[in-house]
Amino acid sequence: MINVAIMGYGTIGSGVARVLDENAPVISARVGDDIRVKKILDRRDFPEDPHADCFVKDINDILDDDEIQIVVETMGGVEPAHTFVKDCLMRGKHVTTSNKALVAKHGPELLAIAKEKNVNFLFEASVGGGIPIIRTITSAVTADVVEAVMGILNGTTNYILTKIEQEGSEFSDVLKEAQELGYAEANPTDDVEGYDACRKIAILTSLNCGRNVDFEKIYTEGITKVTPEDMEYAKAMGRTIKLLAVSRKVEEGTYAMVAPYMLGEEHPLYSVHGVFNAVFIHGNMLDDAMLYGRGAGSLPTASAVCGDIVDIARNLDKNSGVFYSDEEMELLDFEGIRNKFFVRVRGDVNDAANITSPFGKCEVVTCKSLEGEFGFMTEEMREDDFAAAFEKLEGAVSRYRLGN
Ligand code: HSE
Repeated sequence: MINVAIMGYGTIGSGVARVLDENAPVISARVGDDIRVKKILDRRDFPEDPHADCFVKDINDILDDDEIQIVVETMGGVEPAHTFVKDCLMRGKHVTTSNKALVAKHGPELLAIAKEKNVNFLFEASVGGGIPIIRTITSAVTADVVEAVMGILNGTTNYILTKIEQEGSEFSDVLKEAQELGYAEANPTDDVEGYDACRKIAILTSLNCGRNVDFEKIYTEGITKVTPEDMEYAKAMGRTIKLLAVSRKVEEGTYAMVAPYMLGEEHPLYSVHGVFNAVFIHGNMLDDAMLYGRGAGSLPTASAVCGDIVDIARNLDKNSGVFYSDEEMELLDFEGIRNKFFVRVRGDVNDAANITSPFGKCEVVTCKSLEGEFGFMTEEMREDDFAAAFEKLEGAVSRYRLGN
């Protein structure tokens, strides 16, 4: 019997208990032993829950229980999750977490402790919900130089953008729906301002480079300024708007950023709708590959956590080697990154040549339902050159980066 403790019995923690219960026969067969939930740490009581007699309120009840070998952290937030996870690892317990805030901030420290104590610290569910992107990077595409990782890594914002695109819904109504469905973070600002996707691309880039990427240094824009009118322009160009998290190796180094992009129909991420996430990777030998699945929600995320539990249960006596160091991975300055842009501007389309001239050779776009304004697509420009020209543009309404 392998004993598990769950810290945090919210959307994901309760999903973990359900996956372990309902899939017990297959899990036992794959591990070669039974896995049971022995203790659950939560401030609340759950008298009707099938695991009602497992609840404890003091972390020491888990730390001091030598029968508990694997601890699941699904509390969210940085503290006290960080202290609890660290204490569990120090006591020689394996840990799996769904907590991207924790991994983005303290990943290298926790990985180093796990290595020293010869236990595992795994975090598949911290990026892409149920999609096995971390295992793909750490165990599958290991003979390649992964030159690009690009993804829709936040289900809440993709859900909102899809509703705006398909139903012309209001931003605030759709956000409420996403919260009710259990997709959004406790503080949904993390979703809509792009911070959640930023932490996730920081984790993927760190794993890919073997060194820690400081998520606070990644240029990040959210979707709060996306309007139905911007979406109209996107549609007029055969495009849609998606919040992308991008990390790319170029000649000079590696850059990472999070921002809403206008993507064309031929882009592999164009058709990723609703709460679904997708991560596109390009390896120098592999070429292109993409993973697609539910990026949020109780059971898909719990499925990824339980995949980690199975992995750990099969490797109880060794560290599996998932690691990146605390040495900082220096990213390229955002200002020098090159992108093509779409710009929406109030003005006379007959004067477009004059208005667009600071942006190089541009293609004008009009949207029948929107009068007294027009849009244009720029050629590839440095971010700082574009920003300087956009700042001086009279009547500027909005701007987006263009994906291919
Ligand atoms: N709030 C996150 C999302 C949950 O919407 O994708 C999964 O990390």
